Amino acid sequence: MSIIQMTNIHKTFGDTPACCGVDFSVAAGEIHALVGENGAGKSTLMKILFGLVPPDQGEIQLDGKPVTIKNSRTAIARGLGMVHQHLKVIPRLTVLENIVLGNEPTRWGILHLEDAAHKVNQLVNQLGFSLDLNKTAADLSLGEQQHLEIVKALYRKIRILILDEPTAVLSPLETGELFRLLRNLKRQGQTIIFISHKLEEVLSLADTVTVMRNGRHVQTMPAAKTDSQQLAYLMLGTEIALPENKRQTALGDEVLRLDRVSSRHQPGHQNIQQISLSIRGGEILGVAGVAGNGQSELVESITGLRSLACGRIFFKGREITHYSPGQIRQAGVTHIPEDRLMRGLVPSLSVRENLLLGHLQDKDWQNRGFWRLKQNRKECRKLIEKFNVQPQQTETPIQYFSGGNQQKVVLARELSQEHSLLIACQPARGLDLAAAAFVYQQLLAEKAAKRAVLLVSTELSEILDLSDRIIVMFRGEVIAAINAGDINQDELGRLMGGIRAPRRN
Ligand SMILES: Nc1ncnc2c1ncn2[C@@H]1O[C@H](COP(=O)(O)OP(=O)(O)OP(=O)(O)O)[C@@H](O)[C@H]1O
Ligand SMILES: [Mg+2]
Repeated sequence: MSIIQMTNIHKTFGDTPACCGVDFSVAAGEIHALVGENGAGKSTLMKILFGLVPPDQGEIQLDGKPVTIKNSRTAIARGLGMVHQHLKVIPRLTVLENIVLGNEPTRWGILHLEDAAHKVNQLVNQLGFSLDLNKTAADLSLGEQQHLEIVKALYRKIRILILDEPTAVLSPLETGELFRLLRNLKRQGQTIIFISHKLEEVLSLADTVTVMRNGRHVQTMPAAKTDSQQLAYLMLGTEIALPENKRQTALGDEVLRLDRVSSRHQPGHQNIQQISLSIRGGEILGVAGVAGNGQSELVESITGLRSLACGRIFFKGREITHYSPGQIRQAGVTHIPEDRLMRGLVPSLSVRENLLLGHLQDKDWQNRGFWRLKQNRKECRKLIEKFNVQPQQTETPIQYFSGGNQQKVVLARELSQEHSLLIACQPARGLDLAAAAFVYQQLLAEKAAKRAVLLVSTELSEILDLSDRIIVMFRGEVIAAINAGDINQDELGRLMGGIRAPRRN
């Protein structure tokens, strides 16, 4: 019997339809994957199930009985838990406080965290996580924040766990661990709904797959009866291949050089040690590594967000070691940050305002400190058309856009300003195949235009397909520098695990 049956679900935001008569049912005890292009309505459907978004129409049944789920409190009371696409950790609270939030243990009406600490610790150990309950949540990596959210959901004794794109922020290693955990939970009788754009993953984990397109249910089938090609076709209605770097372009002058750069020690961060590298115009340098090995710190050092202990940084021959982030940007460095909602966008501002943030000094957008509003709207419309941001609305706050479309806005802003170096961190994170192909094309176009690209990614295939050269980071050091054509996926995976390659001469 179905544990969940959603029937004829409709939801429209303003004039954007998100769900148009969706039927969705999940069998008890299965892992059910939900896939579909960016903006297909996956998150909306799950938010309706979890009581966060009221449907315009439709019925939900749990265990065969109609229910009304008004808010997340009723959802949790009915045994549902959700780990959101954009994690909802509160940075100032500790891990433990985040976990018990809304369900605080009290004695005689007084908060009593020790009671919870014991239970939470047991759960953390059972799950095989290494979470320090007293750490401030702001100091956790994205992977750790996700562990926190999973513990938080399970602490509430749920029987249906919804995970919205849990692997988008995880390294392959962490993804493997998460999947072991989810299979374990399934063995213990949990039902799991899982959203992902990574079709190979979906096929290896799920029992059943549902495909959505344009707010509609397309098909539900056993994972064993389909393959990634068929899924991609059902999702997009056409076949798409990701473009690759042909590595034929002649390289230009050196654009960026790091000379033995080390960062200052900061608790909770992997400091980088003695990093030297150089990138030339027309070159894509891939930075490979398991998340947390100093990649973020490297990028922060180059963009002026982290102070150096020693070493020097040169951009187009000029030293920029002590430039401020604004000066570095001004000099021609753009940056797609890995955490789009924390660093890349201001969620409550509109698409136009978010695009504007990158053009504060740009004469096309402002004149002597006054916005050229008409011009801004025009530029903004051009950009959202070029980058195919859906829906094509300039005044809607960015927080209401689907994850993939938010990412396209970041790209649009960063690529549309004068620059000689693009630092792209996880640029295709959370994007569907068509959008990822578009991003890949943009990166290759940067190369063709003789600009330099520093591509930081934990996806092996992304690094291998796009880079000219690759450096591998491990515990804050560069442990290998290789021509991309000279290495395969297995070797690169081993290097990322810290196993150094034998020297090639
Ligand atoms: N609160 C909101 N206000 C306005 N529009 C919204 C809101 N939430 C979602 N939408 C729109 O509804 C559509 C479906 O969005 P949803 O987030 O469900 O997509 P998704 O399938 O999860 O996509 P992604 O893979 O990019 O996360 C999108 O066009 C989105 O812009
Ligand atoms: Mg989504």
